[in-house]
Amino acid sequence: MENDVFAIILGAGQGTRMKSSLPKVMHKIAGLPMVCHLIATTSELHTKDTIVVVGPNMDIITKTVAPCKTVLQEKQQGTGDAVKTTKKFLSGKKGHIFILFGDTPLIKKETLEKMIYQREHENADIVVLGFVPNDPGRYGRLVVENGNLKKIVEFKDASDTEKAITLCNSGVMCVNAEKLFGWIDRLDNNNAAKEYYLTDIVKMATDEGLITKVVEGSEEEMAGANSRSDLAMIENIAQNRLRQKFLDQGITMIDPSSVYFSFDTKMGKDITIEPNVFFAPGCTVEDNVEIKAFCHFEGAYIHKGAIVGPFARLRPEANIGENCHIGDFVEIKKSTIDNGAKVNHLSYIGDAHIGEKTNIGAGTITCNYDGYFKSKTDIGSNAFIGSDTVIVAPCKIGDGAMTAAGSVITKDVENDAMAVGRGRQAAYPGWAKSFREQKQQLKNSK
Ligand code: UD1
Ligand code: MG
Repeated sequence: MENDVFAIILGAGQGTRMKSSLPKVMHKIAGLPMVCHLIATTSELHTKDTIVVVGPNMDIITKTVAPCKTVLQEKQQGTGDAVKTTKKFLSGKKGHIFILFGDTPLIKKETLEKMIYQREHENADIVVLGFVPNDPGRYGRLVVENGNLKKIVEFKDASDTEKAITLCNSGVMCVNAEKLFGWIDRLDNNNAAKEYYLTDIVKMATDEGLITKVVEGSEEEMAGANSRSDLAMIENIAQNRLRQKFLDQGITMIDPSSVYFSFDTKMGKDITIEPNVFFAPGCTVEDNVEIKAFCHFEGAYIHKGAIVGPFARLRPEANIGENCHIGDFVEIKKSTIDNGAKVNHLSYIGDAHIGEKTNIGAGTITCNYDGYFKSKTDIGSNAFIGSDTVIVAPCKIGDGAMTAAGSVITKDVENDAMAVGRGRQAAYPGWAKSFREQKQQLKNSK
C-alpha cells in the first residue's frame, strides 16, 4: 500500500512588506492566490488532507481554500509553533507530512515527488528541500555530514563557519507523520529569535540516530514573496513557465514575453497569438484559432478556427463559435456567437445570442441594460445587421432578417424581414450651394 500524503501550508504571516490589507498568501500569481498554487501542487500528490495555518482575521483564506481546512495560529511564535496548531488534525496519522510556506508558490510537483522517493528509499524520517542561492543572505543553513543532514542552523544563531555554508533551507520538509508531533512537542524557543523553530526537529532526529536527507532544488522554485517586487518577479517566472508550456504544445507566439496567461488557461494546438494579449482566468482556446495583437480575454471560450482581434475584449461567458470573426474594438459579454458569424468592427454585444453565419455590421450595439435589469437579444442565423444598428433588448431578430444601417430596433423582427428604424432621408437640390452664397455675401458686407 502506498503511503498517505498530508500537507501543512504555513500562511499566518500578514506580510507587512506587501503593504496590503489582504493576507500575503492571498496575493495572486497568474490569476490564482499563492496559497491555492500550493494546494494545486500538493493535490497532484493525492494528499489525503491539506491544512492551511492562518493568522487572526484571515477568514478570506478559509473561504478561498475550502474544502481544505484552515487552523488559527493566534500568535506567531515561529514555524514550529505554526505546525503545532495542526496537531488536532494530523496527529496519529501514518505516511508523509509535507510542510510548505504559503508565500513560496513555485515549488514543483516533481521536486516534492523526489522528496517522497528519498523518504521511502533512503529510509529518511525527514527530507528537507535545500538550494544554493546566488546570495545565501539570511537563509537557514543546512549542515550536511557524510551525505546526511545533521542539523539546520538559523542565520541568527549560526557561527561564522556555519554562515559560510552555501546550501540553504527552503523551508519545505517532508516528515514521517508518526514522528512529527513528538518532536514538535519538545521544541523550545531558546534561540536568538525567541521562536519555536521547526528546523530544530532535524537535530532531534539525528540525535535519535535517525536518517535525515536533503533534496536540492533550483533557486527559482524557492522564490518567496515578501514584497510587491518579489510578487512581480515570481509572476514573471510563472508566466515564463506557462509560455514555455504552450510553445511546447504547438502554439506560435511572435513575442511570447508580451503574452500573459492564467494558471487555468486551456489551449489546443496550431494557435497563433500576436503580441500583447492577456488571458485572465477561465479561458479556453481551441485548435487553429488566430489571435491578433492587443486582446484581453476573461472567462471566454473560443472555438476552432476563429479569428479574434486585434483589440478585441472577450468578457466572461463570451462563447465564440467555430470560424467566427471577431474584429477590432469589439466587446462581447455573456453571449454565444454561433459558428461562422462575424462581428468585425466596433461593437458591444452583451447578453445575446447570434445565429450561424450572421453578419453584424460595424458599430452595432446591444442595449442590454436599462439601469435596473439586463435583457437578452436573440438574433437568428444568416441575418444581416446593418452598420450602426442599436438593438434595444429584449429583442428577437429572425433568421435571414436584415436591419437598415443606423436603425434603432425596439421591436422584434420576423424571419427574412427588413427592419428600418431611422428617420427618412429628404434631399433639397441646390440647398447647400445657395446656403454658402448667402453666408459669404453676409460676411463680405461686414
Ligand atoms: C524560515 C526557516 C529558514 C529558511 C527560510 C526560507 C525556520 C525557523 N526558518 O525562516 O531556515 O531558510 O524560512 O525562507 O523555519 N509562519 C507562520 N507562523 C509563524 C511563523 C511563520 O505561519 O509563527 C509562516 C510565515 O507566514 C511564512 C513561513 O511560515 O510563510 C516562514 O516564516 P518566516 O518567518 O518567513 O521564516 P524565516 O525566518 O524566513
Ligand atoms: Mg521568510
